[in-house]
Amino acid sequence: MKIVLTFLAIVESFSLYAQTKTSYNAFYSGIPWFDDKGNTVSAHGANIVKENGRYYLFGERHDDTSNAFVGFNCYSSVDLYNWKFERIALPQQQSGKLGPKRVGERPKVMKCPSTGEYVMYMHVDTLGYVDQFVGYATAKNITGPYTFHGPLLFDGKPIKKWDMGTFQDKDGSGYVLVHGGDIYKLNDDYKSISEQLNKAFEQGFESPAIFHKDSLYYFLGSDLTGWERNDNYYFTSTSLKGPWTKRGFFAPQSTLTWNSQTTFVLPIEGTKETTYMFMGDRWSFPKQTSAATCVWQSFTISGCNISLPEYKEAWKVDQKTGVVSSAIVTGKTIVATDQQLIYSGNWKQDTLAIRSSHEKGDSFSITVKTTQVGIYGLARPDGGYASIVIRNSKGKIVLTSSIDMYSKYPVVLLKFLTPVLKKDTYTIIVTVLGEKWWWKEKSGRLSGSRGNFVSLDKFIVTD
Ligand code: GLA
Repeated sequence: MKIVLTFLAIVESFSLYAQTKTSYNAFYSGIPWFDDKGNTVSAHGANIVKENGRYYLFGERHDDTSNAFVGFNCYSSVDLYNWKFERIALPQQQSGKLGPKRVGERPKVMKCPSTGEYVMYMHVDTLGYVDQFVGYATAKNITGPYTFHGPLLFDGKPIKKWDMGTFQDKDGSGYVLVHGGDIYKLNDDYKSISEQLNKAFEQGFESPAIFHKDSLYYFLGSDLTGWERNDNYYFTSTSLKGPWTKRGFFAPQSTLTWNSQTTFVLPIEGTKETTYMFMGDRWSFPKQTSAATCVWQSFTISGCNISLPEYKEAWKVDQKTGVVSSAIVTGKTIVATDQQLIYSGNWKQDTLAIRSSHEKGDSFSITVKTTQVGIYGLARPDGGYASIVIRNSKGKIVLTSSIDMYSKYPVVLLKFLTPVLKKDTYTIIVTVLGEKWWWKEKSGRLSGSRGNFVSLDKFIVTD
């Protein structure tokens, strides 16, 4: 017994996160998530595959400095809330099309029923987005490592388009979707295309995703605005060959799909219900690792209409029954004017917020005894980046991250939430970085924030 306890103490002294492994109890959209190692979950343009009771999440790995491909990550989870980092499933190649200074996006994995192999599809490109094609890689084990084979061929030719997705039908057939609305059927071995089922019907329609429910296929995609958000929309059809009927936006207009872009729809099948989970990305270039977040919401489906009528900052799904329930961030509210907060620098009241600053190095902090801390901020058209550092009572840094305070329309949002921590006295320090989200779209248009503002709304502190 003593040996076991000593061992556990040693493990704990190496990593605080050993005890926070199962510490999220709900989905929290729009905030950085921490994995079992205490790093932010870096998995964008993602998809999820379920196997033997475990979910495997594949997504773009990023760094905070450049847009260059640095690999695709694989994480696993039993509840979809807490993610274990498995490995870099497909690393940057030494040279070639996924070598240094290239682009690799939107990895999607499917298990091929006829070979038993796992096949990963992705968008391959140059940094300037002028050499795009759909590539593929294979692995014997779900977590990889995957071997990159170059372009997926149709009639001996690559599919020279950029945004892509995949769909696996109930009969095991695999499909590759391409922006604009092209749908290609894969051959039995999933390593080449047998036929084109549907031809592009839209100009933009990026980030394509399909799911099937009852007799309908739902085809979702975004407008063409690069990493800037837009109102995503969808079509329905009884056949993948179409004809497709345009149904319009699935989130309320002007919310810009609750500030996200579609990547995948995951059916969560339970004994009572199947919940269809919208998976979206809230991109944040250049800080795509520390400040880009995931927006995962459950669809409301009625007839041929799918919708995300309200933004759920927290919600749950029962893994057994598939039934969705609501969740909230609970605790004591500490507002921005509370005396417990220590401001340093030039924090002012402006037209949008009671406390805001855009000056690099300005900060605020709070010291509280707690197990979980949430921060609400005002996301705004001139919002910028802040860094967050959390220290325990011994002064040891336990978590660090960035947050992006940008939104095209002003909105107060949960911007940060720690996992459940060991009860202790923590100091949370938020510092204005004097930097902002920006991106040059494929059309050459510059998008992103107009300023570097960080605006605090309140803290929520759990006892
Ligand atoms: C769109 C695409 C992304 C990426 C960015 C880059 O958002 O959906 O996959 O290519 O543009 O501009």
